[in-house]
Amino acid sequence: MNAPLIATVGHGATSLWYLTRATGLVALIVLSSTVVLGIVSSVGWTTERWPRFLSQAVHRNLSLFCLALVFIHVATTVADGYVPIGFADAVIPFRSPYRPIWVGLGACAFDVLLAVAVTSGLRRHIGFRTWRWVHWLAYLCWPVALIHGLGTGSDTRLPGVQFVYLLCVVAVIGALGWRLVTARALTSGWRIGAAVGATFVLLGTAVFAFTGPLQAGWSRRSGTSSAVLAKIDATASASAVPSSGQASSSSTTLPAGAPAASPSTPFSSALDGTYSVSSPDGAGQVQVQLSMRLATGGLALVVDLAGPAVNGGVAMTSSQVTFGTRHGQVTFLDGSTIDATVSGSGGSENLTMRLELDRAAGTVSGTVSGAAGSQSSDGKGDSQ
Ligand code: HEM
Repeated sequence: MNAPLIATVGHGATSLWYLTRATGLVALIVLSSTVVLGIVSSVGWTTERWPRFLSQAVHRNLSLFCLALVFIHVATTVADGYVPIGFADAVIPFRSPYRPIWVGLGACAFDVLLAVAVTSGLRRHIGFRTWRWVHWLAYLCWPVALIHGLGTGSDTRLPGVQFVYLLCVVAVIGALGWRLVTARALTSGWRIGAAVGATFVLLGTAVFAFTGPLQAGWSRRSGTSSAVLAKIDATASASAVPSSGQASSSSTTLPAGAPAASPSTPFSSALDGTYSVSSPDGAGQVQVQLSMRLATGGLALVVDLAGPAVNGGVAMTSSQVTFGTRHGQVTFLDGSTIDATVSGSGGSENLTMRLELDRAAGTVSGTVSGAAGSQSSDGKGDSQ
Protein backbone atom coordinates (compact mmCIF):
# COMPACT_ATOMS: atom_id res chain seq x y z
CA MET A 1 0.00 0.00 0.00
CA ASN A 2 1.53 3.28 -1.08
CA ALA A 3 1.05 6.29 1.12
CA PRO A 4 2.60 9.70 1.50
CA LEU A 5 5.78 9.51 3.48
CA ILE A 6 4.66 11.90 6.15
CA ALA A 7 1.18 10.57 6.53
CA THR A 8 -1.52 12.92 7.53
CA VAL A 9 -4.28 10.74 6.13
CA GLY A 10 -6.90 10.31 8.80
CA HIS A 11 -5.30 13.11 10.76
CA GLY A 12 -7.74 16.02 10.82
CA ALA A 13 -4.97 18.56 11.11
CA THR A 14 -4.21 18.69 7.41
CA SER A 15 -7.79 19.20 6.34
CA LEU A 16 -8.10 21.96 8.93
CA TRP A 17 -5.03 23.62 7.49
CA TYR A 18 -6.46 23.42 3.99
CA LEU A 19 -9.63 24.97 5.38
CA THR A 20 -7.56 27.80 6.87
CA ARG A 21 -6.05 28.48 3.47
CA ALA A 22 -9.31 28.21 1.59
CA THR A 23 -11.30 30.38 4.01
CA GLY A 24 -8.48 32.95 4.01
CA LEU A 25 -8.64 33.30 0.24
CA VAL A 26 -12.44 33.31 0.11
CA ALA A 27 -12.54 35.85 2.97
CA LEU A 28 -10.23 38.12 0.98
CA ILE A 29 -12.46 37.83 -2.09
CA VAL A 30 -15.56 38.55 -0.01
CA LEU A 31 -13.82 41.43 1.79
CA SER A 32 -12.82 42.92 -1.57
CA SER A 33 -16.40 42.55 -2.84
CA THR A 34 -17.68 44.17 0.36
CA VAL A 35 -15.36 47.15 -0.14
CA VAL A 36 -16.37 47.44 -3.81
CA LEU A 37 -20.09 47.31 -2.96
CA GLY A 38 -19.59 49.83 -0.15
CA ILE A 39 -18.04 52.17 -2.72
CA VAL A 40 -20.83 51.46 -5.21
CA SER A 41 -23.50 52.34 -2.67
CA SER A 42 -21.66 55.43 -1.44
CA VAL A 43 -21.30 56.68 -5.02
CA GLY A 44 -25.04 56.12 -5.36
CA TRP A 45 -24.77 54.06 -8.54
CA THR A 46 -28.09 52.56 -9.46
CA THR A 47 -29.98 51.11 -12.43
CA GLU A 48 -33.57 50.00 -12.89
CA ARG A 49 -32.63 46.45 -12.05
CA TRP A 50 -30.17 47.33 -9.32
CA PRO A 51 -31.69 49.83 -6.90
CA ARG A 52 -29.40 51.50 -4.39
CA PHE A 53 -30.80 49.64 -1.39
CA LEU A 54 -29.67 46.41 -3.04
CA SER A 55 -26.01 47.54 -3.01
CA GLN A 56 -26.39 48.43 0.66
CA ALA A 57 -28.12 45.16 1.56
CA VAL A 58 -25.61 43.01 -0.32
CA HIS A 59 -22.76 45.06 1.14
CA ARG A 60 -24.06 44.49 4.67
CA ASN A 61 -24.67 40.78 4.17
CA LEU A 62 -21.31 40.25 2.50
CA SER A 63 -19.54 41.94 5.39
CA LEU A 64 -21.27 39.58 7.85
CA PHE A 65 -20.36 36.64 5.61
CA CYS A 66 -16.76 37.85 5.57
CA LEU A 67 -16.71 38.04 9.34
CA ALA A 68 -18.12 34.50 9.56
CA LEU A 69 -15.43 33.28 7.15
CA VAL A 70 -12.70 34.95 9.18
CA PHE A 71 -14.08 33.29 12.32
CA ILE A 72 -13.75 29.92 10.58
CA HIS A 73 -10.32 30.93 9.26
CA VAL A 74 -9.14 31.71 12.79
CA ALA A 75 -10.86 28.71 14.38
CA THR A 76 -9.30 26.26 11.92
CA THR A 77 -5.88 27.87 12.36
CA VAL A 78 -6.08 27.45 16.13
CA ALA A 79 -7.73 24.00 16.08
CA ASP A 80 -5.25 22.68 13.54
CA GLY A 81 -2.50 22.96 16.13
CA TYR A 82 0.17 22.53 13.47
CA VAL A 83 1.48 26.01 14.15
CA PRO A 84 1.36 27.41 17.65
CA ILE A 85 -1.29 30.10 17.15
CA GLY A 86 -3.89 30.69 19.85
CA PHE A 87 -7.13 32.68 19.88
CA ALA A 88 -5.34 35.54 21.66
CA ASP A 89 -2.91 35.77 18.71
CA ALA A 90 -5.89 36.29 16.43
CA VAL A 91 -7.00 39.45 18.22
CA ILE A 92 -3.82 40.80 19.81
CA PRO A 93 -1.54 41.77 16.94
CA PHE A 94 2.09 40.72 16.55
CA ARG A 95 2.33 38.15 19.35
CA SER A 96 1.97 35.02 17.22
CA PRO A 97 5.06 32.79 17.33
CA TYR A 98 4.35 31.87 13.69
CA ARG A 99 5.14 34.66 11.19
CA PRO A 100 4.45 37.30 13.87
CA ILE A 101 4.26 40.37 11.65
CA TRP A 102 2.14 38.82 8.94
CA VAL A 103 -0.25 36.95 11.22
CA GLY A 104 -0.31 40.16 13.31
CA LEU A 105 -1.61 42.09 10.31
CA GLY A 106 -4.39 39.49 10.02
CA ALA A 107 -5.22 40.17 13.68
CA CYS A 108 -5.35 43.94 12.92
CA ALA A 109 -7.71 43.32 10.01
CA PHE A 110 -9.85 41.03 12.17
CA ASP A 111 -10.03 43.67 14.94
CA VAL A 112 -11.11 46.30 12.43
CA LEU A 113 -13.78 43.99 11.01
CA LEU A 114 -15.04 43.32 14.53
CA ALA A 115 -15.05 47.04 15.33
CA VAL A 116 -16.98 47.82 12.14
CA ALA A 117 -19.51 45.06 12.87
CA VAL A 118 -19.99 46.11 16.51
CA THR A 119 -20.34 49.83 15.72
CA SER A 120 -22.77 49.01 12.90
CA GLY A 121 -24.92 47.16 15.42
CA LEU A 122 -24.71 50.09 17.83
CA ARG A 123 -25.12 52.73 15.15
CA ARG A 124 -28.22 54.26 16.71
CA HIS A 125 -26.51 54.60 20.06
CA ILE A 126 -23.13 55.95 19.01
CA GLY A 127 -24.31 58.39 16.36
CA PHE A 128 -23.70 58.56 12.63
CA ARG A 129 -20.41 60.47 12.77
CA THR A 130 -18.67 58.02 15.08
CA TRP A 131 -20.05 55.09 13.13
CA ARG A 132 -18.80 56.62 9.89
CA TRP A 133 -15.29 57.20 11.19
CA VAL A 134 -15.04 53.59 12.32
CA HIS A 135 -16.51 52.49 9.02
CA TRP A 136 -13.76 54.29 7.15
CA LEU A 137 -11.36 51.91 8.85
CA ALA A 138 -12.79 49.20 6.62
CA TYR A 139 -10.80 50.77 3.78
CA LEU A 140 -7.67 50.28 5.88
CA CYS A 141 -8.68 46.74 6.74
CA TRP A 142 -8.52 45.68 3.11
CA PRO A 143 -4.84 46.43 2.33
CA VAL A 144 -3.86 45.13 5.76
CA ALA A 145 -5.69 41.83 5.08
CA LEU A 146 -4.15 41.73 1.60
CA ILE A 147 -0.61 42.04 2.95
CA HIS A 148 -1.45 39.51 5.67
CA GLY A 149 -2.56 37.02 3.01
CA LEU A 150 0.51 37.62 0.85
CA GLY A 151 2.91 37.41 3.78
CA THR A 152 1.33 34.51 5.66
CA GLY A 153 -0.24 32.46 2.92
CA SER A 154 1.31 29.23 1.78
CA ASP A 155 -0.17 29.65 -1.64
CA THR A 156 1.13 33.08 -2.56
CA ARG A 157 3.39 31.70 -5.25
CA LEU A 158 0.70 29.70 -7.00
CA PRO A 159 -0.31 31.44 -10.27
CA GLY A 160 -4.04 30.81 -9.62
CA VAL A 161 -3.79 32.43 -6.21
CA GLN A 162 -1.81 35.36 -7.62
CA PHE A 163 -4.61 35.82 -10.13
CA VAL A 164 -7.11 36.01 -7.25
CA TYR A 165 -4.97 38.65 -5.51
CA LEU A 166 -4.69 40.60 -8.75
CA LEU A 167 -8.45 40.44 -9.31
CA CYS A 168 -9.10 41.74 -5.78
CA VAL A 169 -6.62 44.58 -6.25
CA VAL A 170 -8.00 45.59 -9.65
CA ALA A 171 -11.60 45.51 -8.33
CA VAL A 172 -10.91 47.60 -5.23
CA ILE A 173 -8.53 50.09 -6.84
CA GLY A 174 -10.88 50.41 -9.84
CA ALA A 175 -13.86 51.11 -7.54
CA LEU A 176 -11.83 53.57 -5.48
CA GLY A 177 -10.67 55.41 -8.59
CA TRP A 178 -14.25 55.55 -9.82
CA ARG A 179 -15.37 56.99 -6.52
CA LEU A 180 -12.64 59.62 -6.50
CA VAL A 181 -13.58 60.73 -9.99
CA THR A 182 -17.36 60.77 -9.50
CA ALA A 183 -17.93 61.82 -5.89
CA ARG A 184 -18.97 65.47 -6.04
CA ALA A 185 -18.83 66.00 -2.29
CA LEU A 186 -15.08 65.40 -2.18
CA THR A 187 -12.76 68.40 -2.35
CA SER A 188 -9.83 68.15 -4.72
CA GLY A 189 -7.56 67.97 -1.67
CA TRP A 190 -9.31 64.79 -0.56
CA ARG A 191 -9.23 63.36 -4.05
CA ILE A 192 -5.51 63.98 -4.49
CA GLY A 193 -4.74 62.74 -0.97
CA ALA A 194 -6.74 59.54 -1.49
CA ALA A 195 -5.23 58.95 -4.92
CA VAL A 196 -1.69 59.44 -3.60
CA GLY A 197 -2.47 57.18 -0.62
CA ALA A 198 -3.90 54.44 -2.84
CA THR A 199 -0.92 54.62 -5.23
CA PHE A 200 1.46 54.44 -2.31
CA VAL A 201 -0.32 51.38 -0.87
CA LEU A 202 -0.44 49.74 -4.29
CA LEU A 203 3.25 50.28 -5.06
CA GLY A 204 4.25 49.31 -1.52
CA THR A 205 2.27 46.07 -1.77
CA ALA A 206 3.80 45.26 -5.16
CA VAL A 207 7.35 45.92 -3.92
CA PHE A 208 6.65 43.86 -0.80
CA ALA A 209 5.23 40.95 -2.82
CA PHE A 210 8.09 40.86 -5.32
CA THR A 211 10.88 41.22 -2.79
CA GLY A 212 9.29 39.08 -0.07
CA PRO A 213 6.68 36.33 -0.44
CA LEU A 214 7.38 35.74 -4.12
CA GLN A 215 11.05 35.08 -3.42
CA ALA A 216 12.44 31.73 -2.33
CA GLY A 217 13.26 31.49 1.36
CA TRP A 218 10.33 33.65 2.46
CA SER A 219 9.16 31.20 5.12
CA ARG A 220 12.32 31.56 7.06
CA ARG A 221 12.48 35.32 6.62
CA SER A 222 8.83 35.70 7.56
CA GLY A 223 9.40 34.23 10.99
CA THR A 224 8.49 30.57 10.68
CA SER A 225 10.25 28.73 13.48
CA SER A 226 12.54 25.90 12.45
CA ALA A 227 10.43 23.44 14.44
CA VAL A 228 7.43 24.37 12.34
CA LEU A 229 9.45 24.36 9.15
CA ALA A 230 10.38 20.83 9.86
CA LYS A 231 7.32 19.47 11.52
CA ILE A 232 6.44 15.95 10.65
CA ASP A 233 3.40 13.93 11.42
CA ALA A 234 4.62 10.42 11.92
CA THR A 235 1.73 9.04 13.94
CA ALA A 236 0.72 6.32 11.56
CA SER A 237 4.29 5.54 10.72
CA ALA A 238 5.30 5.01 14.32
CA SER A 239 2.57 2.47 14.87
CA ALA A 240 2.66 0.68 11.53
CA VAL A 241 6.34 0.24 10.83
CA PRO A 242 8.44 -1.90 13.11
CA SER A 243 11.31 -0.04 14.69
CA SER A 244 14.59 -0.89 13.09
CA GLY A 245 17.97 0.80 12.95
CA GLN A 246 17.14 3.71 15.26
CA ALA A 247 17.52 6.75 13.10
CA SER A 248 19.68 9.36 14.68
CA SER A 249 21.12 12.64 13.59
CA SER A 250 24.48 11.52 14.86
CA SER A 251 24.56 7.99 13.49
CA THR A 252 23.77 8.02 9.80
CA THR A 253 24.06 4.66 8.04
CA LEU A 254 24.82 4.90 4.36
CA PRO A 255 23.65 2.07 2.11
CA ALA A 256 26.56 -0.15 1.25
CA GLY A 257 28.77 0.81 -1.67
CA ALA A 258 27.70 4.41 -1.84
CA PRO A 259 29.60 6.22 -4.60
CA ALA A 260 31.23 9.47 -3.61
CA ALA A 261 30.45 11.73 -6.58
CA SER A 262 27.23 13.67 -6.63
CA PRO A 263 25.52 14.32 -10.00
CA SER A 264 26.03 17.77 -11.46
CA THR A 265 23.17 20.16 -10.87
CA PRO A 266 20.46 20.59 -11.90
CA PHE A 267 19.43 16.95 -11.88
CA SER A 268 16.41 14.82 -11.29
CA SER A 269 16.28 11.13 -10.53
CA ALA A 270 14.02 8.40 -9.25
CA LEU A 271 15.05 6.86 -5.93
CA ASP A 272 14.08 4.10 -3.58
CA GLY A 273 15.13 2.65 -0.27
CA THR A 274 14.00 1.75 3.20
CA TYR A 275 12.23 3.57 5.93
CA SER A 276 12.27 3.07 9.69
CA VAL A 277 10.71 4.78 12.65
CA SER A 278 11.71 4.22 16.24
CA SER A 279 9.24 3.80 19.06
CA PRO A 280 9.16 6.88 21.31
CA ASP A 281 11.96 6.76 23.89
CA GLY A 282 11.56 7.63 27.58
CA ALA A 283 11.65 11.34 26.75
CA GLY A 284 9.07 10.90 24.00
CA GLN A 285 11.62 11.36 21.20
CA VAL A 286 10.96 9.66 17.88
CA GLN A 287 13.56 9.04 15.23
CA VAL A 288 12.96 8.45 11.56
CA GLN A 289 15.48 7.25 9.01
CA LEU A 290 15.10 7.15 5.25
CA SER A 291 17.93 5.32 3.61
CA MET A 292 17.66 5.72 -0.16
CA ARG A 293 19.62 5.36 -3.36
CA LEU A 294 19.26 7.29 -6.61
CA ALA A 295 18.27 5.28 -9.70
CA THR A 296 20.57 7.49 -11.77
CA GLY A 297 24.17 7.00 -10.66
CA GLY A 298 23.30 4.99 -7.53
CA LEU A 299 24.32 7.72 -5.09
CA ALA A 300 23.16 7.20 -1.49
CA LEU A 301 20.82 9.66 0.12
CA VAL A 302 20.07 9.28 3.83
CA VAL A 303 17.68 11.46 5.78
CA ASP A 304 17.58 11.28 9.58
CA LEU A 305 14.87 13.08 11.48
CA ALA A 306 14.47 13.31 15.25
CA GLY A 307 12.22 15.16 17.63
CA PRO A 308 9.62 14.97 20.36
CA ALA A 309 6.13 13.63 19.81
CA VAL A 310 3.75 16.56 19.58
CA ASN A 311 -0.02 16.39 19.18
CA GLY A 312 0.23 12.76 18.25
CA GLY A 313 2.94 13.54 15.69
CA VAL A 314 6.54 14.59 15.82
CA ALA A 315 7.92 18.09 15.73
CA MET A 316 11.33 17.62 14.24
CA THR A 317 14.00 19.41 16.19
CA SER A 318 17.04 17.97 14.47
CA SER A 319 17.85 16.42 11.16
CA GLN A 320 20.75 15.24 9.17
CA VAL A 321 20.94 14.63 5.46
CA THR A 322 23.81 12.81 3.82
CA PHE A 323 24.02 12.86 0.07
CA GLY A 324 27.13 11.07 -1.12
CA THR A 325 29.90 12.98 0.62
CA ARG A 326 27.80 16.02 1.29
CA HIS A 327 26.03 16.73 4.53
CA GLY A 328 23.26 19.06 5.49
CA GLN A 329 19.84 19.43 7.00
CA VAL A 330 16.18 19.28 6.18
CA THR A 331 14.77 22.73 5.50
CA PHE A 332 11.16 21.80 4.86
CA LEU A 333 8.82 18.87 5.42
CA ASP A 334 5.25 18.50 4.37
CA GLY A 335 3.19 15.53 3.33
CA SER A 336 5.35 13.66 0.88
CA THR A 337 7.79 16.49 0.18
CA ILE A 338 11.14 17.02 1.86
CA ASP A 339 13.54 19.81 1.01
CA ALA A 340 17.10 19.76 2.22
CA THR A 341 20.27 21.73 1.77
CA VAL A 342 23.56 19.84 1.68
CA SER A 343 27.04 21.20 1.26
CA GLY A 344 30.52 19.88 0.74
CA SER A 345 33.71 20.71 -1.08
CA GLY A 346 31.89 21.64 -4.30
CA GLY A 347 29.50 24.11 -2.70
CA SER A 348 25.92 23.77 -1.57
CA GLU A 349 23.01 22.03 -3.18
CA ASN A 350 19.26 22.17 -2.59
CA LEU A 351 17.41 18.89 -2.81
CA THR A 352 13.69 18.37 -3.22
CA MET A 353 12.38 14.88 -2.54
CA ARG A 354 8.88 13.73 -3.35
CA LEU A 355 8.42 10.42 -1.65
CA GLU A 356 5.94 7.65 -1.21
CA LEU A 357 6.05 5.24 1.65
CA ASP A 358 4.97 1.64 1.72
CA ARG A 359 4.31 1.20 5.41
CA ALA A 360 3.74 -2.53 5.34
CA ALA A 361 7.04 -3.18 3.54
CA GLY A 362 8.98 -0.35 5.24
CA THR A 363 10.13 0.95 1.86
CA VAL A 364 10.23 4.35 0.29
CA SER A 365 10.31 5.42 -3.35
CA GLY A 366 9.95 8.64 -5.29
CA THR A 367 12.03 11.29 -6.98
CA VAL A 368 14.72 13.73 -6.01
CA SER A 369 15.79 16.85 -7.84
CA GLY A 370 18.82 18.95 -7.08
CA ALA A 371 19.68 22.56 -7.78
CA ALA A 372 22.82 24.48 -7.01
CA GLY A 373 22.99 27.56 -4.84
CA SER A 374 20.40 29.16 -2.66
CA GLN A 375 17.14 28.00 -4.21
CA SER A 376 15.06 26.63 -1.39
CA SER A 377 11.56 25.83 -0.37
CA ASP A 378 9.68 27.22 2.48
CA GLY A 379 7.29 26.62 5.28
CA LYS A 380 4.40 24.44 5.95
CA GLY A 381 2.69 23.13 2.88
CA ASP A 382 4.06 26.06 0.98
CA SER A 383 4.25 26.67 -2.65
CA GLN A 384 6.86 29.16 -1.57
C1 HEM B 1 -9.86 40.11 7.76
C2 HEM B 1 -9.21 39.12 8.27
C3 HEM B 1 -8.40 38.11 7.49
C4 HEM B 1 -8.35 37.86 6.14
C5 HEM B 1 -9.14 38.53 5.02
C6 HEM B 1 -7.39 36.80 5.94
C7 HEM B 1 -7.03 36.29 4.71
C8 HEM B 1 -6.01 35.38 4.51
C9 HEM B 1 -5.49 34.96 3.23
C10 HEM B 1 -5.97 35.51 1.89
C11 HEM B 1 -4.52 34.05 3.45
C12 HEM B 1 -3.68 33.33 2.40
C13 HEM B 1 -4.23 31.94 2.16
C14 HEM B 1 -3.35 31.12 1.23
O1 HEM B 1 -2.28 31.54 0.80
O2 HEM B 1 -3.76 30.02 0.92
C15 HEM B 1 -4.40 33.88 4.87
C16 HEM B 1 -3.50 33.03 5.49
C17 HEM B 1 -3.43 32.84 6.85
N1 HEM B 1 -4.14 33.49 7.83
FE1 HEM B 1 -5.53 34.93 7.51
N2 HEM B 1 -6.91 36.41 7.17
C18 HEM B 1 -7.49 37.19 8.13
C19 HEM B 1 -7.25 37.14 9.49
C20 HEM B 1 -6.46 36.21 10.11
C21 HEM B 1 -6.28 36.09 11.53
C22 HEM B 1 -6.93 36.99 12.58
C23 HEM B 1 -5.44 35.05 11.76
C24 HEM B 1 -4.97 34.56 13.10
C25 HEM B 1 -5.18 33.38 13.52
C26 HEM B 1 -5.06 34.49 10.48
C27 HEM B 1 -4.23 33.41 10.27
C28 HEM B 1 -3.76 33.00 9.05
C29 HEM B 1 -2.76 31.99 8.85
C30 HEM B 1 -2.05 31.19 9.95
C31 HEM B 1 -2.56 31.88 7.47
C32 HEM B 1 -1.56 30.97 6.77
C33 HEM B 1 -2.25 29.81 6.13
C34 HEM B 1 -1.31 29.19 5.12
O3 HEM B 1 -0.25 28.70 5.48
O4 HEM B 1 -1.61 29.25 3.96
N3 HEM B 1 -5.71 35.23 9.51
N4 HEM B 1 -5.31 34.70 5.51
